[in-house]
Amino acid sequence: MHEESLGKPITLAFDVYGTLIDTHGVVVALEKHVGVKAPDFSRIWREKQLEYSFRRGLMQNYENFARCTSDALDYTSTFFKVFLSEKDKQDLLNVYKVLPAFDDVKEGLERAVEYGFKIFAFSNGSADAVETLLKHAGIRDYFLGVVSVDEIKSFKPNPGVYCHFLRKAGATGANAWLISSNPFDVIGALSAGMKAVWIKRSPEALFDPWGIKPTLTVKSLLDLAGQIEIHEFF
Ligand code: LAC
Repeated sequence: MHEESLGKPITLAFDVYGTLIDTHGVVVALEKHVGVKAPDFSRIWREKQLEYSFRRGLMQNYENFARCTSDALDYTSTFFKVFLSEKDKQDLLNVYKVLPAFDDVKEGLERAVEYGFKIFAFSNGSADAVETLLKHAGIRDYFLGVVSVDEIKSFKPNPGVYCHFLRKAGATGANAWLISSNPFDVIGALSAGMKAVWIKRSPEALFDPWGIKPTLTVKSLLDLAGQIEIHEFF
Protein backbone atom coordinates (compact mmCIF):
# COMPACT_ATOMS: atom_id res chain seq x y z
CA MET A 1 0.00 0.00 0.00
CA HIS A 2 1.33 3.38 -0.86
CA GLU A 3 2.06 6.23 1.50
CA GLU A 4 0.71 9.69 0.78
CA SER A 5 4.03 10.96 2.06
CA LEU A 6 5.59 9.66 -1.16
CA GLY A 7 3.97 12.76 -2.66
CA LYS A 8 1.70 10.95 -5.12
CA PRO A 9 -1.82 10.94 -3.71
CA ILE A 10 -4.18 9.32 -6.16
CA THR A 11 -7.74 10.63 -6.45
CA LEU A 12 -10.66 8.40 -7.44
CA ALA A 13 -13.92 9.87 -8.78
CA PHE A 14 -16.71 7.32 -8.39
CA ASP A 15 -19.63 7.60 -10.75
CA VAL A 16 -22.87 7.08 -8.81
CA TYR A 17 -25.91 5.90 -10.83
CA GLY A 18 -25.16 2.52 -12.42
CA THR A 19 -21.73 2.22 -10.75
CA LEU A 20 -22.26 2.49 -6.98
CA ILE A 21 -26.06 2.55 -7.05
CA ASP A 22 -28.19 0.04 -8.97
CA THR A 23 -30.70 1.99 -11.07
CA HIS A 24 -32.56 -1.26 -11.76
CA GLY A 25 -33.37 -1.47 -8.05
CA VAL A 26 -36.65 0.13 -9.12
CA VAL A 27 -37.80 -3.05 -10.95
CA VAL A 28 -39.75 -4.46 -7.96
CA ALA A 29 -41.73 -1.21 -7.61
CA LEU A 30 -42.43 -1.23 -11.37
CA GLU A 31 -43.82 -4.80 -11.34
CA LYS A 32 -47.02 -3.51 -9.72
CA HIS A 33 -47.60 -1.36 -12.83
CA VAL A 34 -46.18 -3.35 -15.76
CA GLY A 35 -45.69 -6.92 -14.46
CA VAL A 36 -43.07 -8.91 -16.37
CA LYS A 37 -42.22 -5.88 -18.50
CA ALA A 38 -40.65 -4.20 -15.44
CA PRO A 39 -36.99 -4.91 -16.42
CA ASP A 40 -37.58 -3.51 -19.95
CA PHE A 41 -39.41 -0.49 -18.52
CA SER A 42 -36.51 0.15 -16.15
CA ARG A 43 -33.95 -0.13 -18.97
CA ILE A 44 -35.79 2.28 -21.29
CA TRP A 45 -36.42 4.70 -18.42
CA ARG A 46 -32.68 4.76 -17.68
CA GLU A 47 -31.71 5.09 -21.37
CA LYS A 48 -34.12 8.02 -21.85
CA GLN A 49 -32.92 9.68 -18.64
CA LEU A 50 -29.34 9.64 -19.98
CA GLU A 51 -30.45 10.71 -23.47
CA TYR A 52 -32.27 13.70 -21.97
CA SER A 53 -29.14 14.66 -20.01
CA PHE A 54 -27.00 14.43 -23.19
CA ARG A 55 -29.51 16.52 -25.16
CA ARG A 56 -29.91 19.14 -22.46
CA GLY A 57 -26.11 19.39 -22.27
CA LEU A 58 -25.77 19.83 -26.04
CA MET A 59 -28.68 22.26 -26.26
CA GLN A 60 -27.37 24.23 -23.27
CA ASN A 61 -30.84 23.95 -21.85
CA TYR A 62 -29.97 22.74 -18.38
CA GLU A 63 -32.48 21.33 -15.92
CA ASN A 64 -31.21 19.08 -13.15
CA PHE A 65 -30.87 15.31 -13.38
CA ALA A 66 -34.03 14.72 -11.31
CA ARG A 67 -35.96 16.55 -14.07
CA CYS A 68 -34.35 14.26 -16.70
CA THR A 69 -35.43 11.27 -14.58
CA SER A 70 -38.98 12.54 -14.20
CA ASP A 71 -39.40 13.49 -17.90
CA ALA A 72 -37.98 10.09 -18.88
CA LEU A 73 -40.53 8.36 -16.61
CA ASP A 74 -43.34 10.22 -18.43
CA TYR A 75 -41.92 9.17 -21.78
CA THR A 76 -41.53 5.54 -20.72
CA SER A 77 -45.03 5.19 -19.26
CA THR A 78 -46.48 6.57 -22.52
CA PHE A 79 -44.26 4.20 -24.52
CA PHE A 80 -45.54 1.21 -22.50
CA LYS A 81 -49.14 2.56 -22.65
CA VAL A 82 -49.46 2.40 -18.89
CA PHE A 83 -51.32 5.07 -16.95
CA LEU A 84 -49.47 6.36 -13.89
CA SER A 85 -51.29 8.76 -11.57
CA GLU A 86 -49.37 11.70 -10.08
CA LYS A 87 -49.09 9.66 -6.87
CA ASP A 88 -47.76 6.57 -8.73
CA LYS A 89 -45.12 8.74 -10.40
CA GLN A 90 -44.13 10.38 -7.15
CA ASP A 91 -43.88 6.97 -5.46
CA LEU A 92 -41.58 5.69 -8.24
CA LEU A 93 -39.44 8.85 -8.12
CA ASN A 94 -39.20 8.40 -4.35
CA VAL A 95 -37.90 4.86 -4.87
CA TYR A 96 -35.28 6.37 -7.20
CA LYS A 97 -34.06 8.56 -4.31
CA VAL A 98 -33.20 5.53 -2.16
CA LEU A 99 -31.98 2.98 -4.70
CA PRO A 100 -29.68 0.25 -3.33
CA ALA A 101 -25.91 -0.04 -3.75
CA PHE A 102 -24.45 -3.02 -5.65
CA ASP A 103 -23.19 -5.88 -3.44
CA ASP A 104 -19.47 -5.23 -3.99
CA VAL A 105 -19.62 -1.51 -3.18
CA LYS A 106 -19.09 -1.35 0.59
CA GLU A 107 -16.07 -3.62 0.66
CA GLY A 108 -14.66 -2.13 -2.56
CA LEU A 109 -14.78 1.38 -1.08
CA GLU A 110 -13.33 0.17 2.21
CA ARG A 111 -10.35 -1.27 0.33
CA ALA A 112 -9.86 1.94 -1.69
CA VAL A 113 -9.73 3.94 1.55
CA GLU A 114 -7.30 1.43 3.12
CA TYR A 115 -5.00 1.81 0.12
CA GLY A 116 -4.82 5.55 0.83
CA PHE A 117 -6.72 6.76 -2.24
CA LYS A 118 -8.64 10.04 -1.93
CA ILE A 119 -12.16 9.15 -2.92
CA PHE A 120 -15.03 11.33 -4.11
CA ALA A 121 -18.49 10.71 -5.55
CA PHE A 122 -18.90 12.44 -8.91
CA SER A 123 -22.30 12.48 -10.52
CA ASN A 124 -24.85 13.93 -12.88
CA GLY A 125 -27.15 13.89 -9.83
CA SER A 126 -27.46 17.01 -7.66
CA ALA A 127 -25.31 17.02 -4.51
CA ASP A 128 -28.44 16.69 -2.32
CA ALA A 129 -29.74 13.69 -4.27
CA VAL A 130 -26.33 11.98 -4.16
CA GLU A 131 -25.88 12.69 -0.42
CA THR A 132 -29.28 11.08 0.23
CA LEU A 133 -28.48 8.02 -1.87
CA LEU A 134 -25.06 7.46 -0.31
CA LYS A 135 -26.37 7.94 3.24
CA HIS A 136 -29.28 5.59 2.61
CA ALA A 137 -26.88 2.95 1.25
CA GLY A 138 -24.64 3.40 4.33
CA ILE A 139 -21.57 4.42 2.28
CA ARG A 140 -21.39 8.21 2.65
CA ASP A 141 -18.55 8.19 5.17
CA TYR A 142 -16.07 6.61 2.74
CA PHE A 143 -16.06 9.77 0.59
CA LEU A 144 -14.14 13.00 1.16
CA GLY A 145 -16.87 14.80 -0.75
CA VAL A 146 -19.55 14.84 -3.41
CA VAL A 147 -18.95 16.70 -6.67
CA SER A 148 -22.01 17.34 -8.84
CA VAL A 149 -22.24 18.54 -12.43
CA ASP A 150 -25.12 20.72 -11.17
CA GLU A 151 -22.48 23.15 -9.89
CA ILE A 152 -21.67 24.07 -13.51
CA LYS A 153 -25.08 23.36 -15.05
CA SER A 154 -24.00 20.79 -17.59
CA PHE A 155 -23.79 17.01 -17.82
CA LYS A 156 -21.31 14.24 -18.46
CA PRO A 157 -19.57 13.77 -20.89
CA ASN A 158 -18.97 17.51 -21.41
CA PRO A 159 -15.16 17.81 -20.83
CA GLY A 160 -15.92 20.82 -18.63
CA VAL A 161 -17.54 18.65 -15.96
CA TYR A 162 -14.41 16.47 -15.62
CA CYS A 163 -12.28 19.66 -15.36
CA HIS A 164 -14.70 20.89 -12.71
CA PHE A 165 -14.20 17.65 -10.80
CA LEU A 166 -10.40 17.98 -10.92
CA ARG A 167 -10.54 21.56 -9.69
CA LYS A 168 -12.92 20.73 -6.84
CA ALA A 169 -10.89 17.68 -5.79
CA GLY A 170 -7.56 19.53 -6.04
CA ALA A 171 -6.29 16.92 -8.51
CA THR A 172 -4.85 16.79 -12.02
CA GLY A 173 -5.74 14.39 -14.83
CA ALA A 174 -2.40 12.63 -14.36
CA ASN A 175 -3.23 11.58 -10.78
CA ALA A 176 -7.00 11.14 -11.00
CA TRP A 177 -9.11 8.20 -12.10
CA LEU A 178 -12.78 8.02 -12.99
CA ILE A 179 -14.43 4.79 -11.85
CA SER A 180 -17.56 3.97 -13.85
CA SER A 181 -19.70 1.20 -15.28
CA ASN A 182 -20.98 3.64 -17.91
CA PRO A 183 -18.81 3.47 -21.06
CA PHE A 184 -19.82 7.01 -22.15
CA ASP A 185 -18.51 8.29 -18.82
CA VAL A 186 -15.23 6.34 -19.13
CA ILE A 187 -14.67 7.70 -22.66
CA GLY A 188 -15.59 11.21 -21.46
CA ALA A 189 -13.05 11.13 -18.63
CA LEU A 190 -10.27 9.69 -20.81
CA SER A 191 -10.94 12.36 -23.44
CA ALA A 192 -10.64 15.03 -20.73
CA GLY A 193 -7.21 13.72 -19.66
CA MET A 194 -8.09 11.51 -16.68
CA LYS A 195 -7.38 7.81 -16.32
CA ALA A 196 -10.45 5.61 -16.11
CA VAL A 197 -11.56 2.18 -14.93
CA TRP A 198 -14.51 0.48 -16.55
CA ILE A 199 -16.44 -1.66 -14.05
CA LYS A 200 -17.75 -4.52 -16.17
CA ARG A 201 -19.94 -6.45 -13.74
CA SER A 202 -21.72 -8.42 -16.42
CA PRO A 203 -19.98 -10.46 -19.15
CA GLU A 204 -22.65 -9.11 -21.56
CA ALA A 205 -21.77 -5.44 -20.93
CA LEU A 206 -20.45 -3.80 -24.11
CA PHE A 207 -17.92 -1.02 -24.51
CA ASP A 208 -18.41 1.49 -27.32
CA PRO A 209 -16.21 0.71 -30.36
CA TRP A 210 -14.68 4.19 -30.60
CA GLY A 211 -11.05 3.06 -30.55
CA ILE A 212 -10.65 4.45 -27.02
CA LYS A 213 -9.93 1.84 -24.34
CA PRO A 214 -10.36 2.09 -20.57
CA THR A 215 -7.04 2.34 -18.71
CA LEU A 216 -8.20 -0.70 -16.73
CA THR A 217 -11.25 -2.97 -16.78
CA VAL A 218 -12.33 -4.85 -13.64
CA LYS A 219 -15.27 -7.17 -12.96
CA SER A 220 -15.91 -6.04 -9.42
CA LEU A 221 -15.14 -3.10 -7.15
CA LEU A 222 -13.37 -5.65 -4.94
CA ASP A 223 -10.53 -5.79 -7.50
CA LEU A 224 -10.38 -2.05 -8.05
CA ALA A 225 -7.93 -0.69 -5.48
CA GLY A 226 -5.40 -3.49 -5.97
CA GLN A 227 -5.42 -3.06 -9.77
CA ILE A 228 -4.96 0.73 -9.57
CA GLU A 229 -2.15 0.27 -7.05
CA ILE A 230 -0.34 -2.12 -9.45
CA HIS A 231 -0.87 0.24 -12.39
CA GLU A 232 0.41 3.29 -10.51
CA PHE A 233 3.23 1.91 -8.42
CA PHE A 234 4.63 -1.33 -9.85
C1 LAC B 1 -24.04 9.66 -12.91
C2 LAC B 1 -24.71 9.12 -14.15
C3 LAC B 1 -23.73 8.78 -15.21
O1 LAC B 1 -24.25 9.24 -11.75
O2 LAC B 1 -25.56 8.10 -13.96
O3 LAC B 1 -23.26 10.59 -13.13
